[in-house]
Amino acid sequence: MNNIITIDGPGGSGKSTISRMLAERINFLYLDTGAMYRAVALAATREKIDLTDGKKLGGLCKSLDLHFNTDVEPPRLLLGDEDISMAIRGPEMDMLSSEVSAVREVREAMVSLQRKMAKGAKIIAEGRDMGSVVFPEAGHKFFLTASHEVRAERRYRERLERGESVSRGIVEAELRKRDHQDESRSISPLRPAEDAILIDSTDLNPEAVVEKILDLMIVDC
Ligand code: DC
Repeated sequence: MNNIITIDGPGGSGKSTISRMLAERINFLYLDTGAMYRAVALAATREKIDLTDGKKLGGLCKSLDLHFNTDVEPPRLLLGDEDISMAIRGPEMDMLSSEVSAVREVREAMVSLQRKMAKGAKIIAEGRDMGSVVFPEAGHKFFLTASHEVRAERRYRERLERGESVSRGIVEAELRKRDHQDESRSISPLRPAEDAILIDSTDLNPEAVVEKILDLMIVDC
């Protein structure tokens, strides 16, 4: 399935930036699956649904009219007619999206939607379980890593740029907690697919990682 390239990894590993750059470079669509879990967390919060109530969350997921508008750059995520691209990036959504993503009913609904969105398209699928669970037949699979310090620093800078006043210590602690949640959940934990190529981006800028991926894909073809 050479129409699908998967890029997985923990928060702050650079996978969103790299997926976006790569998609633009090779003219693929970018599927940001983390944004979809964030949208579920946002909708559940608005509906005041208990985040451990799988049945209600499953029902909510089925009722969500979630789609990406990829005609604009950067792509926008829409819930019905509402552009929620900004609202899902609030700091509270970091932890809440991680919580809802551990719920079986939510994962089943999102995996099915992700496969539907990918049908017939050329996509870079970015997330935690793209290569291992959602698109096991993908033509190329990458798993990005970086040291905890560098990932925390990237997240800290992102949040400062969004105008938040947050300490580096808090960002580091939250990242550690989210890593633990994402790695230790029983369904589809964050883990590289067996056939994924690992790339450590600790000392590489995004351009260098993109070049590396392009080189690896040529060698692999
Ligand atoms: O990539 P992100 O930080 O936007 O993802 C938000 C949360 O969603 C993350 O804590 C884990 C979860 N997630 C997931 O479980 N599976 C995916 N494919 C993508 C994200």
